[in-house]
Amino acid sequence: MRRGFDVVTIFPGMIESYLGESIVNRAIRNGLLDVAVYNPRDYTKDRHRTVDDYPYGGGSGMVMKVEPLYELLTDLRKDGRARRVILLTPQGRTFDQQMAEEFVQDDRRPVFICGRYEGIDERVRELLVDDELSIGDYVMTGGELAALVIIDSVARLIPGVLGDDASSREESFSWGILDYPHYTRPPEFLGYGVPAVLLSGNHAEIMRWRRREALRRTLERRPDLLDRARLTEEDTRFLRELCSDRTKSSGEDTDESYKGC
Ligand SMILES: C[S@@+](CC[C@H](N)C(=O)[O-])C[C@H]1O[C@@H](n2cnc3c(N)ncnc32)[C@H](O)[C@@H]1O
Repeated sequence: MRRGFDVVTIFPGMIESYLGESIVNRAIRNGLLDVAVYNPRDYTKDRHRTVDDYPYGGGSGMVMKVEPLYELLTDLRKDGRARRVILLTPQGRTFDQQMAEEFVQDDRRPVFICGRYEGIDERVRELLVDDELSIGDYVMTGGELAALVIIDSVARLIPGVLGDDASSREESFSWGILDYPHYTRPPEFLGYGVPAVLLSGNHAEIMRWRRREALRRTLERRPDLLDRARLTEEDTRFLRELCSDRTKSSGEDTDESYKGC
């Protein structure tokens, strides 16, 4: 399987420099990932290659103009490929692991439009955009990091991109819960040891311990995830035990948002 992305940005170097390193770069070299970067400045007609202008109605900051983005998207569409045009904006739906998995399954090629300044002319949204995504409730100076966050998290789900495909299936969010704790050598450091079960060689026990630690961690840090997670009967039993231990030790009702508590 190969997945590709188009990124529309006035700072192509930001995207290219990240893609030039590490695992995503290896994925590109191995033909599993391709990312094409387009600059709206190449679609301007004036001497200064202007992509922004003052906001109608006044106020601070500049606004990205509609015409260069319209010309660029029209040019991209000439190859007849199915595309999904995504505007990166703090006002969009919040990107998560499930959406990353959906990107891998979707045959439409995503086009990320990276805003800058105060944002883009609203008509870009009206005329060109299929979907709007945010990477979280904070405001950055541009959409480039958001595009890279999404590309990176999707790339590692493409079969063959990680050396061992199991590693992308077994980590935080894959089962709707957080990952278990990891340890490597040495077996002891400054008096801190490694849980004995991990040194036991008993794979069934190791799996059980990992699952339980993942559940414990999720209950402690993100109990909200448990209501939507894919849980077995044994998981639910273990969580109930954890909840009742907590209630007993605190002597009062817990205020966890996990409804099983
Ligand atoms: C300074 S922001 C503009 C914010 C805009 N005035 C607003 O309040 O919605 C400039 C650009 O950064 C990008 N951006 C900023 N924060 C983002 C976020 N959390 N997720 C995705 N893109 C973001 C968007 O592309 C946005 O057009």
